[in-house]
Amino acid sequence: MAKLAINGGPRSIPEDIEIAKDWPVVTKEDKAALIRVIDSGNFWGKDHPETAALEKEYAEYTGTEYCLAFNSGTSALHGCVAGIGIEPGDEVIIPSLTFLASATSVMHHNAIPVFVDIDPETYNIDYRKIAEKITDKTKAIMPVDYHGLPADYDEIYPIARAHDLVVIEDAAQAGGATYKGRKAGNLGDISGASTMPLKPLPGAGEGGLVCTNDKGYRDLADMVRMFGEIIEAGRQRQYNAYTMGWNYRMNPLVAAMIRSQLKRLDDNVRVRHENGAYISGALAEIDGVIPPYVPLDRTHAYYIYYFKVDPQAAGAEKIPAGRFRQAVQDILRAEGVFVRLSQHTPVPGQSLFQVKRGYGKGCPWTCPYGRDVAYRIEDYPNTLDVLRRSLALDARFTYPSTSKKVIDMMIDAFRKVFENMDEVVRYAGSIDYREPWEEISTMSPVEQHEEYVSESLYQGFREDKKPG
Ligand SMILES: Cc1ncc(COP(=O)(O)O)c(C=O)c1O
Repeated sequence: MAKLAINGGPRSIPEDIEIAKDWPVVTKEDKAALIRVIDSGNFWGKDHPETAALEKEYAEYTGTEYCLAFNSGTSALHGCVAGIGIEPGDEVIIPSLTFLASATSVMHHNAIPVFVDIDPETYNIDYRKIAEKITDKTKAIMPVDYHGLPADYDEIYPIARAHDLVVIEDAAQAGGATYKGRKAGNLGDISGASTMPLKPLPGAGEGGLVCTNDKGYRDLADMVRMFGEIIEAGRQRQYNAYTMGWNYRMNPLVAAMIRSQLKRLDDNVRVRHENGAYISGALAEIDGVIPPYVPLDRTHAYYIYYFKVDPQAAGAEKIPAGRFRQAVQDILRAEGVFVRLSQHTPVPGQSLFQVKRGYGKGCPWTCPYGRDVAYRIEDYPNTLDVLRRSLALDARFTYPSTSKKVIDMMIDAFRKVFENMDEVVRYAGSIDYREPWEEISTMSPVEQHEEYVSESLYQGFREDKKPG
C-alpha cells in the first residue's frame, strides 16, 4: 500500500504539475474586446455601447426580457431587492448556507434576512422549511443557486405565490447552469448574477447582472443603479432623483470582457459539468466519499465542487464526523490535493447577526418597522452537519482547461487516502479538532466583535459593551 505523503510517502500530485490554466482564461478575442474600449476613449456611462450590448446579449442568453449591468453581484442583488419595492423592516427568506452577500443585499435596504435551513443533499434552501418562516412582514424568497446548482424552483414558486411573495434568484455562482432547460438568471421573478473574475462568467473586474421579465422591477432597479434618477439614452438628463439611489454602474471594460466570455460560457459550463460528473462518478466508488447530488433536471456550473466524507462508510466509525473531515482535509492537502472549508458557519452565526450591530442603534432589526429576529445556529442543523462533513475541492480540477490526466491523479489521491484508513484514523486521533464555526475563533461572536472591531465603531452602540 502506498505510503501517505503526510507520513513521508510521495505526493499523489507532484508540486511541479500544472493543474489547470488560471481562471479566467483570457483569449486574444477578450484582449481585442478590452482594446476596443480603450481605443474608443469612452470609459463611462450607464448606456455605454458595450454595456448596452451586454445587456441585450445577456437578456437573450438567459431568455429574459430585460437585463441591467451592475458593478458587482452584491449591488445587482441590492438592485433586485430595491427593484421589487422592498422597504425597511420587510423580511426576505434566505438559505442559511450561502455567501454573506445574499443576506447583506437585503440589509442594504434596511430590510431583514430570515434564514431557512438547507437540504443536506443539494445544499440549497430546503423548500419544505420555508412556509414556517413566513410572517406578515415577508415580501420575498431568495433561493441561492449555491455552488452553481439551481435551487428547487418548481417547489418554491407555489409557496411564494400562495403568500404573494416575489422570488429573487441569487444566481451569483451559477452563470450558464440550467434548470429544466432554462438558464440560471431566468429562474426568479428577478435575478442577480455575479461576474467577478472567479465566477463561471467572468468580467475584467467586479460586475453583476440583473435579469427580469417585469418592466416595473426593471425600471425601479435602473433608477436605484444611478442615483435614483431616470436616465434614458437620447433624453436630456434632469439631475432629479425620484428615489434613493446609488452609483452601481458597470465599467465598460468589464462589460466588453463579459460579452467576449459569454460566447464561450456554454462550452465552458458544459466542460465544467462534465468534469464534475466524471469526478463524482469516480469518487462515488470510494467508500466514505459522498459526491454532490445533482438532480437530473438541472446542470451544475461547478463554481465550487463540494463533497462530504463519512467516517461510518469509510470504516472509521469511532471517529466523529468533523474530526474525520479535518483529518481527510490535512491528508489530502499533503497529497497535493487542496481542499478547504467553504463557509465556516451558517450565515446567521456570523458576528454581524449574533451581535446585531448592523447600521448601529439596532438597525435594521429594532429600528422602526423592524423585528428582532432571533439568529441561533442550532436552528440550522442540516447546515451545521454539512459544514462539519464537507469540503470544497480546489476549483482548478473543474476548470475547463484541466486535463483528465490531472483529474485522475486527484482521484487516485482520494483512493490512496481512503485505502490507508488505519493511518487516517491514527492521524485523526492525534489532531486538535474544533467545529468549523469555532475555527473562526474560539471566542464567541460577541467577544470577537469586541476584540476586533475598532472602538470608534462602538460610538452610539452598546455603551455597556464598549471595550476598555
Ligand atoms: C451566493 C453569492 N451571492 C452574492 C455574491 C456577491 O457577488 P459579488 O462578489 O460579485 O459582489 C456572491 C459572490 O461570491 C455569492 O457567491
